[in-house]
Amino acid sequence: MQIKKVVVICLFVQLLFNCQEKEIYNVEVQIIPKPSKHIVNKGHFVLSSSSGLNYPEELKVSAEFFKSFIEQGKAIRLGKGNDINFIVDTTIDNDEGYNLEISPNNIKIKAKTDHGAFYAVQTLRQLLQPEFENGSFKTEQANISCMSITDAPQFVYRGMHLDVGRHMFSVDFIKKYIDALAMLKMNTFHWHLTEDQGWRIEIKKYPKLQEISAFRYETLVGHYGDQPHQFDGEKYGGYYTQDQIKDIVAYAESRFVTVIPEIELPGHAQAAIAAYPELGCTGEQVNVAKKWGVFEDIYCSKNETFEFLEDVLDEVLELFPSKYIHIGGDEAPKTHWKNCKSCQQRIKDEGLKDEHELQSYFISRIEKYLNSKGRQIIGWDEILEGGLAPNATVMSWRGFDGAIEAAKQKHNVILTPGSYCYFDHYQSENGDEPLAIGGFLPLEKVYNFNPIPEELTAEEGKYVLGAQGNVWTEYMPNSKHVEYMIFPRILALSEVVWSNSEEKNYKEFVSRVENFNKRLDVLDINYANHLYEIEGELITKENQIVYQMTTTSKGKDIRFTTDGLEPTVNSKIYEKPVPITESINLKARVFDSEKELGKIFSQDINMHKAVGATITINNEPNKAYQGSGPEGLINGISGSDTRYGDKEWLGFWGDDIEITIDLKEVKHINSIETRFHNGQGQWIYAPREIEIAFGDDGFKTHKISAYDNLIVNFKSTFEGGKTKKIRFRIPNYGTILEGKQGAGQKSWTFIDEIIIN
Ligand code: ACM
Ligand code: ZN
Repeated sequence: MQIKKVVVICLFVQLLFNCQEKEIYNVEVQIIPKPSKHIVNKGHFVLSSSSGLNYPEELKVSAEFFKSFIEQGKAIRLGKGNDINFIVDTTIDNDEGYNLEISPNNIKIKAKTDHGAFYAVQTLRQLLQPEFENGSFKTEQANISCMSITDAPQFVYRGMHLDVGRHMFSVDFIKKYIDALAMLKMNTFHWHLTEDQGWRIEIKKYPKLQEISAFRYETLVGHYGDQPHQFDGEKYGGYYTQDQIKDIVAYAESRFVTVIPEIELPGHAQAAIAAYPELGCTGEQVNVAKKWGVFEDIYCSKNETFEFLEDVLDEVLELFPSKYIHIGGDEAPKTHWKNCKSCQQRIKDEGLKDEHELQSYFISRIEKYLNSKGRQIIGWDEILEGGLAPNATVMSWRGFDGAIEAAKQKHNVILTPGSYCYFDHYQSENGDEPLAIGGFLPLEKVYNFNPIPEELTAEEGKYVLGAQGNVWTEYMPNSKHVEYMIFPRILALSEVVWSNSEEKNYKEFVSRVENFNKRLDVLDINYANHLYEIEGELITKENQIVYQMTTTSKGKDIRFTTDGLEPTVNSKIYEKPVPITESINLKARVFDSEKELGKIFSQDINMHKAVGATITINNEPNKAYQGSGPEGLINGISGSDTRYGDKEWLGFWGDDIEITIDLKEVKHINSIETRFHNGQGQWIYAPREIEIAFGDDGFKTHKISAYDNLIVNFKSTFEGGKTKKIRFRIPNYGTILEGKQGAGQKSWTFIDEIIIN
């Protein structure tokens, strides 16, 4: 018992104490993102006030960062000397790479650039007790295990985005956000500064952007899908002054984070048009938007708008030295352009085919302006429509297609597909998660993301610069909420973009996350913790239907009940899959010996007539939304009411679906039920009707009537029905109508369990 404890403590203080046990050398080094190569050696270095620091001018920023990190506490003061030695090493070929050598007598940090040395410091930081993070470490010495690390990133672009238009956050929080990026070796902060709901950057030439565009009269309460819409009646807004922005950009620079501003055009411009109606096509007065969505008041393509945008960009360029400027380009409804004299004249004069080509003209003209100032543009993947501007980098958010198309056209791309990178989606299936926009993006899915689409050749894959997590803040009213949505998913993303993808091991990653959470506690970061949740699955094993459960955290027990009562420390320990012979409610919880962890997992299992049948579907579900495959539609388990990306829903993009269920023997059929997701803001539409056939009989059409809710239920009864085989045809809703979000795009069909009684 005693020995075991010693080893366990060693593990959990990250090799800090002088443990003599042999096991220590096999211990996983608990660093996030995981370094390329590390070897743990015998012994330790003692960090104390007798440790001297030495660094050349070229590595000054990183060395001084290290010194202040150590000295923010009162316990240790670093002197001068070669104990901790920063060394310029030009043989290291990656500017962001480093070697870190910890020996009993000294620590050597070698890098070609200060940027690389800074990342060595971030690694070293994680080898120290979490209490260093806020200066609360009281002991006069800290032991660091001997090891040698060679490390460099996989991708050059490692980003996080933050929308400050929907909700705004303090300068201090923006710095805290940048600190988190730097700690995780991420190098880009994409700052989304202008939106329909608020313009957040001071532009001195246009004071009404500050007076009018920066404020909305009130804000939508609850979810956009809740009808009727209700508002809070409170004025909301503000903006960052140019001085604040300069301060933030300099702060980021000192942490090797580049800030890329986004000035949205031609869409998401309603706040600007509220202040200067002449920038729109109609000239009509509009208000800063007070609810979420996509709005038709976009910039007109007349010359005056370009003059305004160039003036704005002139001030933006003064504040942001970044090579890239993000110009938006997404979600710009063309309704007003179609009816606008100036825009139609522009189409004629420029010999353009349609409004999509006008959008391309708009983006290309802005690109030309920015190129003339020595800058490059990034735009959301809509900038592919109507022709890509000659030098643009594409940010692919509507899945992978934009990335594939752009890379094939030899344009650089950054991957931010909604299915893997949208941190505004739910991260747990637990019903008590805070309100989110929708979707389902658990930690494991982010961890398993591969930014290089498999459709690309190795050569084309080189156009993938990296990936980014997007944080749209409609449903994140304050900074604590932002932290909850980004942690721990940002930890997984940092590994996606930094670490070697061939060494992925989710369980091992989770143990590092568990450890990292102690650092987040000291940093006062409000992370979500779903590590003690349970995942369940109904499977057939040796001709028996059984329910299998797992949890990702190592060395814990799952205790469960099938009588509807809450599991306690006295409930049965789960050892093998539980046989299921009738419909039940199963409850389970993770325990660390006596201690309850996480939340209660509750699963209704509905043993209807199709459970255990065979199912075929004519089309594969979309790669990002394949749940647990076709069998998931007849596994006795229904999906979440809000999270269509969970294991139970299947998503199809634009395809008509044909499903055949073979019950294996003739059965009486009294009713057939299923559900469709109808989250129209996310381009998901329930079908208007479905067709059902028994055996080889003809199809009969069943209309779907109640159509206004987020979930559309379907149920049909069959008096005296009897069959072995049931066939379904489920037509896709079709193209999304004008005036709706995603107008002109293919719609999604999301279907849940098909319940047959
Ligand atoms: C986006 O999410 N509209 C880029
Ligand atoms: Zn116009």
